[in-house]
Amino acid sequence: MRLIFLGPPGAGKGTQARALEERFGVKQISTGDILRENRALGTPLGKEAEGYMQRGELVPDALILSMIETELEKYPAGFIMDGFPRNVAQAEAFDGLLGRKGWVLDGVVLFEADRSTLIERLSARWTNPRNGRTYNAITNPPKHAGVDDQDGGQLIQREDDKPETVARRLDVYERETEPLVEYYKKKGVLVEIDALAPVADVTHALLHAVKLEHAH
Ligand code: AP5
Repeated sequence: MRLIFLGPPGAGKGTQARALEERFGVKQISTGDILRENRALGTPLGKEAEGYMQRGELVPDALILSMIETELEKYPAGFIMDGFPRNVAQAEAFDGLLGRKGWVLDGVVLFEADRSTLIERLSARWTNPRNGRTYNAITNPPKHAGVDDQDGGQLIQREDDKPETVARRLDVYERETEPLVEYYKKKGVLVEIDALAPVADVTHALLHAVKLEHAH
């Protein structure tokens, strides 16, 4: 299975990608998580990406594309792209990469949500920095505040979830990433789902949209 999850920050792409990963073993490739890992490790890529991420801007395409090439080598059997591509140049380069490997996309899922819900969700998000798992203080709180239910580790609030940075990320999404909706619509691979529903209902709609509802 080769999917792209497209949608604004806070729409639930990561939440759903992890749900599918747990259920079907299909690998989530989150460019945001990989960049944060590189920053934590202090790699050259992490250092270059830092300022862009703190400002809520896109990291330059050349860095992202070489990172994606490396990731794809690891997962020939399939993947869910979470947070990539994020502009038309990245999408065209990705088409080229897939073409060279002889791979086709099974679908591009667009997560639709309004701006005020996204701002609300991101300001209540708590993240496990070790594996990217997220909770939400309002809609999906951990059993003990600030602690991951599964590994007992500390949860943090992402620095780019500050209100002013969230506003910038949403603007960048509208300007740079939203044109991909038309891009993939024209290719006939786009499916749209309502990301405002509760998490389990979104998963259900997603499985239906990508024709996996009867898979185990
Ligand atoms: P990235 O980490 O990709 O952030 P994002 O796209 O902004 O996405 P988010 O992780 O914020 O949101 P999400 O949709 O995954 O929502 P989540 O599931 O957590 O990117 C960060 C930065 O890295 C970028 O700004 C950029 O600088 C750089 N970058 C990354 N990729 C790049 C690229 N390709 N090119 C250039 N730069 C790049 O859910 C959000 C919250 O809502 C959680 O609290 C969750 O519990 C809750 N929630 C989820 N679903 C529901 C629901 N159905 N109902 C109620 N609550 C819900």
